[in-house]
Amino acid sequence: MTFETFPATRLRRLRTNQWIRTLIAENKLAVSDLVMPLFVFQNLPDVALSSKKTPQPLPFPPLSVDSLPDFVEEKILAVGLTSVALFPVIAQQNKDEQGRHALCEDNVLVKAIQCLKERFPTLGVISDIALDPYTTHGHDGVIQNDDVDNDATIKILADMAVLHAQAGADVLGVSDMMDGRIHALRQGLEEKGYVQTKILSYVAKYASCLYGPFRDIVATAAAKDPGGLCKKTYQMDICNQKEALREALLDIQEGADLLMVKPGGGYLDIVSLLKQKTHHPLCVFQVSGEYAMLRAADAQGWVSYKDGLLESLMGFKRAGASVIFTYGALDAARWLKEMDR
Ligand code: PBG
Repeated sequence: MTFETFPATRLRRLRTNQWIRTLIAENKLAVSDLVMPLFVFQNLPDVALSSKKTPQPLPFPPLSVDSLPDFVEEKILAVGLTSVALFPVIAQQNKDEQGRHALCEDNVLVKAIQCLKERFPTLGVISDIALDPYTTHGHDGVIQNDDVDNDATIKILADMAVLHAQAGADVLGVSDMMDGRIHALRQGLEEKGYVQTKILSYVAKYASCLYGPFRDIVATAAAKDPGGLCKKTYQMDICNQKEALREALLDIQEGADLLMVKPGGGYLDIVSLLKQKTHHPLCVFQVSGEYAMLRAADAQGWVSYKDGLLESLMGFKRAGASVIFTYGALDAARWLKEMDR
């Protein structure tokens, strides 16, 4: 047996120095790829005190609407990030079975969108469309006959979308997983003249165990109960790959502008599949539990947070994601800038 390619071909030749590795790198991570998720809380005395403390695995505690603009200026814009994804922490007294507070014209998320757009007209503001932060049971919809009522829920979501668009949201991140919601939202937006508002559909949102820290912060953990009604009746089964493509193709037909895969780390096959089979901009969400694992391993001295974070983000890029939502966006942006110097 002869080795025709050796020694003519030695792949190590292209790995000898940093400059050649960088020159030929197939993927590059940029600050402009990253989106920082932020939690905003209602300034009411009874907002769960625990959510005001630094949520241990996440980088910092939820912000009040008042402190949000300065935070954005001093932290987000300072490192070159250009957009934020906003999630609300709703006071217990404003939660009910129907999540009615979601349609309240001066709820904390609406105020947060307004005050950010006022101060930073060019900042990208991505708001969350889902009912879970507003319902006492923590589900992403209204409950009828022991089930989340799909069709009743999407009507509410469409109204919520118009409310956020009115407040100035650029992108609506639709994270609930009801059927037909993208169509309902698009119709609602068109009717009211919000033709430029972008819909980011969480097309492949899996019923994952990795949302724990997020649920602690927005106090939706009630929906975790595996014995009762669980989110598996609407979020995707972790066993499935082809179904993600069906979800994506439907949401595209219904009028989605951007697609999201969530969680990220364990779902790179889905990112890669959607990259190949669709032509829409593709986002991925490194969720709270994934981020928590990086921090925990670092705290143990097992894996460096910096190296682990940057490597995981490169994995998303390599798989085909063009936009990455991560709680590490601030840190990663800072490190990427340092590495550029
Ligand atoms: C629900 C929602 C969840 C997350 C974002 N939107 C959790 C859930 O489905 O219960 C989790 C994000 C994260 O863990 O970082 N609309």
